[in-house]
This record gives sequence, C-alpha cells and structure tokens, in this order.
Amino acid sequence: MKQYKIAVLKGDGIGPEIVNEAIKVLNAVATSENFKLEYTEFLLGGSAYDKTGDPCPKETIEGCLNSDAVLFGAIGGYKWDNLPKEKRPESGLLKIRKALGLFANIRPAVIFDELIEASTLKEEVIKGVDLLVVRELTGGIYFGKPRGKEKDKAYNTMVYTKEEIERIARIGFEEAMKRRKKVTSVDKANVLEVSELWREVVEEVAKDYPEVALEHMYVDNAAMQLVRNPKQFDVILTGNIFGDILSDEASMIVGSIGLLPSASIGGKVGLFEPIHGSAPDIAGEKIANPIATILSAAMMLDFLGELNGAEKIRKAIKKVLKEGYRTKDIASFGAKRVVNTEEMGDLIAENAGN
Ligand code: IPM
Ligand code: MN
Repeated sequence: MKQYKIAVLKGDGIGPEIVNEAIKVLNAVATSENFKLEYTEFLLGGSAYDKTGDPCPKETIEGCLNSDAVLFGAIGGYKWDNLPKEKRPESGLLKIRKALGLFANIRPAVIFDELIEASTLKEEVIKGVDLLVVRELTGGIYFGKPRGKEKDKAYNTMVYTKEEIERIARIGFEEAMKRRKKVTSVDKANVLEVSELWREVVEEVAKDYPEVALEHMYVDNAAMQLVRNPKQFDVILTGNIFGDILSDEASMIVGSIGLLPSASIGGKVGLFEPIHGSAPDIAGEKIANPIATILSAAMMLDFLGELNGAEKIRKAIKKVLKEGYRTKDIASFGAKRVVNTEEMGDLIAENAGN
C-alpha cells in the first residue's frame, strides 16, 4: 500500500477547524483508494510564537522537509498584531515558503455552477470562468532588500533576478500547455524597471512555448479586466504582490474567498493551503467554509500522484453543493440547508469516500 507522510500546519484562527475537515475528507478518500496518509503536526504562526517565541520554529521546517507534502490552514490574529515584524505570524509563513523553496504559487479560480449566484458579478460575466493565477512567491517586494522603517521614512524594494523570473515563467507556460494555452503576464512595465526585466525574460521563455499565446497586461488594467471580463483569462503569470492582490480579487468572481485553494511548489515538497486568512473574527464559531482547504487537499493528492482521489474530492464537493448544502458565507445562494464547518466536512467525506 502506498504511504505518504504529511506535515500538518493547522496555524491560527479558523486554521485548525478547516484543516480537521480536510483531514477527514483525505482519510475517507485514502480508505477508498487504498493508500495511507501519515500525519505529523507542526507549529506555525501565532500559535508557534506563543509556544516557542518563533513563528516558524526550526522543527517545523525540518518536519516539512522530511515529509512528502505539507497541508496548511492559515495564520494570524489580532493578538499578535503589535509584535515586531519578524515575530509576527505572517513572517512565519513567509519564512517557511522561503525555506522550502516554494517559489511558485498556483491559485485556480473555477466557477461552481451551483454557486453562480454567490458572486457579486452577473452570471453572464462569470459563467464558465476557469483561470489560474501563477504567483511568484519567494521574491519581489516581499523579500527585496533594502527594507526598513525609520522615524519619518520607510521603504521596501521590489527586486527580481532574471533567474527568478525565468523559473516562474516556465511554470506559467507549462501550466498553460495543460490548459487553453494562453498566458497573460501582469506587470507595471510602464513605471517599474523590475517589470521591464520581467517582460523581457517572459518574452524569452515564451520562445520555448510557440503554441502558447502570450500577452502582457499592466496590473491596474488586469484588476479592471478581471471584473469586466474574467473569461478572457487562462493563466495569469505575475509577481508576488500583484499575485497576492489579484488572487483575492479572483476569489470574488467565484463567490467566496472560502472556496479558493492553492498549491505552492518548486521545492522538494509542495505546500497546500487555502488562499484565505485565519479569519480571527469567526474562529471557534464553526461557521468557516472548509471547501478551500478541502480543495487544497485535492491539489495535494494531485501532487502526490493520487489523481483518482483528487477527482473524487472535487466531485464530492460539487455534489454536496448541488444538493443545496451551504456554509454561512455562501448561505443565501441556493441553500436548502445551512451547515456548519464539521457538517460540511462530513458530507464531503461521505461522498468522496465512495
Ligand atoms: C496569502 C496571504 C499571505 C501573503 C500573508 C498572510 C503573508 O495574504 O497567502 O495570500 O501575502 O502571501
Ligand atoms: Mn493574500
């Protein structure tokens, strides 16, 4: 029987609640598909800081490196808002991404027909949307030096090397080859030198993918086009901060930020997490939508080569939504029954385990 070691980082806020549901679903699928998942929990974020003084302890990095994949919930909360930057939960997440070499963040935004009314956008605009944000994750302004804060001045630097752009561009084009063969590279080349280089390198990489149509788009226009006509996009290839912003925007096309999964790859192990945060305002209330995390678990199974299992999860989610079960965030749209986080997990697990 195939066996996989999964490092589990539940994190803060709603993190533990949603990861528990993903594990429930994974276990159901593992039984029916005849493979085994062995979980080990590690600390990350505010909870790690509280216990160890470090939002990303060494044991967590080692534990992740010793696993086949990492399943992650979310980090952050008001409690840690006033800590110095390097102690904050967010620093823990950035550190683990960097330490694991996860330079590529893949964020699909696919419409569920069952939830078409959950979006604030009109049905004709969003029906059939299927796009993928390929976000660079370990460079750009998040990591660039110099950075600092003085009394009356603060600064960050957006830096990209040719090598960093090239490797993320390759991922973007490879993903496009598996899809509708279109890449929209998003930058701000009319203002930023770093974007000029980005464009040049993306053009170079494009030569290796003659079947893929490449277009460039300024980030401000891309933000506008995403709500004007999201169907024009296949793969959106972009840097760290633009990808952060555009993927939150893309989640509103789909209806709820509680629905979008992500995979971070590029290193020895992949890390799978919902794109949303730790929602401290609703933590413990059992109303969080676990679907983004469960979809992230499906991406994890794809990554591990358990393609049937991944498909079973996605089908189960569709079925449960079709039957009218909804968590609170999507409750007003076609809900026959509003369920809590655990009930949603149970329903998906039952269907996925068949
Ligand atoms: C995300 C989050 C993180 C990011 C934060 C929590 C550091 O917003 O995964 O999109 O900006 O990358
Ligand atoms: Mn974000």
